[in-house]
Amino acid sequence: MLQSALMNVMVKAARRAGRSLKRDLGEIENLQVSMKGPANFVTMADKRSEEILYTDLTKARPGYGFIGEEGGLREGADKTHTWIVDPLDGTTNFLHGIPQFAISIGLLREGVIIAGLIYNPANEELYTAERGKGAFLNDTRLRVANRKQLNDCVIACGLPHIGRGNHELSRQEMTALQPKVAGLRRFGAASLDLAYVAAGRLDGYWERNLQQWDIAAGIVMIREAGGVVSDIQGRDVDALATGNVVCGNEAVHDQLVKILKPLK
Ligand code: IPD
Ligand code: CA
Ligand code: CA
Repeated sequence: MLQSALMNVMVKAARRAGRSLKRDLGEIENLQVSMKGPANFVTMADKRSEEILYTDLTKARPGYGFIGEEGGLREGADKTHTWIVDPLDGTTNFLHGIPQFAISIGLLREGVIIAGLIYNPANEELYTAERGKGAFLNDTRLRVANRKQLNDCVIACGLPHIGRGNHELSRQEMTALQPKVAGLRRFGAASLDLAYVAAGRLDGYWERNLQQWDIAAGIVMIREAGGVVSDIQGRDVDALATGNVVCGNEAVHDQLVKILKPLK
């Protein structure tokens, strides 16, 4: 696969941040049994990853703006381009030593997501996509799954935990979907859920109350793999404003929207 200069920059930055996260994951195993636990250490790992990404991306593309989960917005002179970065998506998994976490980098140009990268350093899975150029897992071109009947489909979701989201609404969603699907999954890293839909591993995914850095890269990934992604009301997600997503191939996406949209 011939990689563009832009994607090269993104991959290099992600691999360096990934090495840092992987080293830190090793430490986590030791900290599980300590009195204080690994929480503070994870916060540091998260920040270290973001600083590597900020340094490398800004060095390669001076002037681009940068929005990171940890540091917020750092404006650049070029107002047309902004990186949208989650330096560690799946923090709870990471904290528990569960190797389902990722670095997520999206690039926004004048309000449109033009490139995305999602990288899990624990298993070396690197997902990349550029607008109009397809989506890839390492060197393999991605395509969303073709299943059309919900009862054949495995669908992932988010589950709000203590102090987050609307638990009652989440239970309503489960009640509506459980009897209709082959399986429901909750993996705990939104960026990878989106990447798995692009890769055809999952047939669909939905989640509410996400942030732009959870979904920016995944949105272009799904589209470039031939899938459809919108918010739960069925509206465009390029603005990254609502933080709700639902995706799949067109048939699965539409059925999920039909079921989820009326729930309040
Ligand atoms: C979280 C993960 C999780 C999702 C949460 C996100 P974080 O991101 O993506 O899967 O359910 O809503 O906040 O906090 O681990 O970066
Ligand atoms: Ca996240
Ligand atoms: Ca995060």
